[in-house]
Amino acid sequence: MAETVLTSADLVAPLFVAEGLSAPHPISSLPGQFQHTVDSLLNEVDLHLANGVNAFMLFGVPVTKDDQGSGAWDPNGITQVALRELKARFGHDVVLMADLCLDEYTSHGHCGVLTAQGTVDNDATIALYAQVAIAQAQAGANVVAPSGMMDGQVLAIRQGLDSAGFDDAAILAYSAKYASAFYGPFREAVKVEIADGGDRRAYQQDYRNRREGLREALADIEQGADMVMVKPAMSYLDVLSDIAANVDVPVSAYHVSGEYAMIKAAGERGWIDAPRVALEQLTSVKRAGANFILTYFANEIAEGLKR
Ligand code: PBG
Repeated sequence: MAETVLTSADLVAPLFVAEGLSAPHPISSLPGQFQHTVDSLLNEVDLHLANGVNAFMLFGVPVTKDDQGSGAWDPNGITQVALRELKARFGHDVVLMADLCLDEYTSHGHCGVLTAQGTVDNDATIALYAQVAIAQAQAGANVVAPSGMMDGQVLAIRQGLDSAGFDDAAILAYSAKYASAFYGPFREAVKVEIADGGDRRAYQQDYRNRREGLREALADIEQGADMVMVKPAMSYLDVLSDIAANVDVPVSAYHVSGEYAMIKAAGERGWIDAPRVALEQLTSVKRAGANFILTYFANEIAEGLKR
């Protein structure tokens, strides 16, 4: 009589691909996750497909960064290289989503370019996001996923994609993205350090606010978002439930790096049964209204569900 049953089709696996590596590099704060070479990435996708996970969110880790984050839209930037290889190898067997942000590519680690005063320049940044979206779609991304929380980013990206002939590329908006301490391990994964001890509270949401989450999702849908996301997941099930009840597009949640790391760490100590806790959490996210879930547990859980 269970109302909610998690399946491999609910899961999207975030994967990291790094430029200039000769072998995959384990991410110590995310046990079981790697910065991949392009080759090991192809192999990792194969392993996921065998377990029924066919959607991926790609993050690129470049060798060089600059103040504009130009590697993000360079046709030979690492994400674009990886997207082309994945599409060539797997074609329609995979759904390729690309995280669309500048923070992995900027020397200062912010999600946008900076003004002379050192604050993020919203409007200059969204023009660059449109360029990144076009480069990603050109390289084979089915879905671009803006995660920078700039105002007007979805509209700018939609217009950019359409003007370049990519009207069939979809937009998954990180709509209700909270300024969260749960992203800690991710910053190691992509080697991002925000300059001068800065943070993202000027553009990400305040976790003390609930209604703002729905407002952000509605604004993104009005601008052309095909799907929306809530992030992190477990501490924001109220926001997720609000959004799921009020929108008519697919809704997702991102079970983020810190959520994964906590379960792994407690599991390693024998304090909890990690796979059971992971399944309980992810099923709860689906129960709260998510139509799909981004999670570093995707492959492990999907494999477990086969048994
Ligand atoms: C921004 C981005 C972040 C995450 C996904 N996209 C980091 C941030 O906003 O600081 C975090 C994902 C995670 O913690 O698993 N490119």
